[in-house]
Amino acid sequence: MKWPATRISSSSPKSFGMYQRAAALFPHDPDVIHLEVGRPDCDTPAHIKQAAIDALQAGRVHYGEFPGELDLREAICTRLARHNGIEASPAQVIVTNGLTHASYATVMAAIDPGDEVILLAPYYPQIINKIELAGGVVVAVPLDAAAGFAIDAARIEAAVTPRTRMVCIVNPNNPTGRVHTRQELQALADVAIRHDLLVLSDEVYERIVYDGAQHTSIASLPGMAERTISLFAFTKAYAMDGWRLGYLVADPRFIPAILKVTMNDVSHVNTFIQAGGVAALTGDQCAAEQMVEEDRRRRDLVCDTLDGLAGIRCPRPQGTIYAFADIRGTGLGSQAFADRLLAQTKVSVESGAFYGPAGEGFVRICFGGEPYARIQTAMDRMRGFLQGQG
Ligand SMILES: Cc1ncc(COP(=O)(O)O)c(C=O)c1O
Repeated sequence: MKWPATRISSSSPKSFGMYQRAAALFPHDPDVIHLEVGRPDCDTPAHIKQAAIDALQAGRVHYGEFPGELDLREAICTRLARHNGIEASPAQVIVTNGLTHASYATVMAAIDPGDEVILLAPYYPQIINKIELAGGVVVAVPLDAAAGFAIDAARIEAAVTPRTRMVCIVNPNNPTGRVHTRQELQALADVAIRHDLLVLSDEVYERIVYDGAQHTSIASLPGMAERTISLFAFTKAYAMDGWRLGYLVADPRFIPAILKVTMNDVSHVNTFIQAGGVAALTGDQCAAEQMVEEDRRRRDLVCDTLDGLAGIRCPRPQGTIYAFADIRGTGLGSQAFADRLLAQTKVSVESGAFYGPAGEGFVRICFGGEPYARIQTAMDRMRGFLQGQG
């Protein structure tokens, strides 16, 4: 039988851009420096690993609770109250397989075919897959590079139609590295309340902020808890990307529909893995803090090297593990820049256009995924490349 052309199969998944190109051009070549993938290079802190090992040894190997183990959901609620300004009960929390799963379940539960979903561009492209899977329609609202990609509530409001159901934000932002201010979020909140919209808030980088920048959860603003689905993960802050552990918090009236998705696609997250999550939230935070400090050092290395080189502007981001370098002065398009840099120097960065047309003229450089010395080598190669372009 022929594989049917369905809504799902009709477009290819948005996943890795330059990583695939680098792997195809230089297969298994250790000299390739990967500044395109957003993967922490540190190991998961030892006490977190030990907690999962202990849980396994203690026989936590059986089915658990569909929304997640109660001790983990309680620890999450304590964290949400202390750090995010979100008051929630464990019944409002669902533990998920990373943030990817939390956003999938949310979109599948909230979006009906034909519903419009506003993304702020440049956007994190994975979310497009989910909107398409749900039959939703993506409406990209470009943000202004000259304003540092700040949230522009007036542009968002201008894009609202009677079919608009949800606005998705990523804060701190991937790919721009911006930490959205309380004022930006308040302006968006006003629009959401005025038009009765849901907000999906991806806060996977909530802890990776620098220079005293303040992360604000939009759900903590007045009137927003009842319309925001806030998504978090252990992925970046604790270098637990392979563990696949995250969570969402939402108003109680959204939970049954989201749970209907999660209990059918994965049942629940592995029971013993969740013990690692409890240890991460309740245990010593020193290792996590040191990782952020190391990311800050690498950020400074990247931005201080590139900013001011011929044709490049690379301001220091206030959060995340990404610098979003403005390459318009080089005269190259984003993809051409990334392709040439890779071919000539074996340094792989992501084309800004991967994040939608609004990212054209930029490249995203991840400074969290390679050790300091390798980033230094990459910067030397980039300097040589840029001098060669002049
Ligand atoms: C903005 C954003 N959301 C979600 C994810 C995926 O998170 P997880 O690995 O927890 O599924 C990433 C990973 O890079 C990300 O950058």
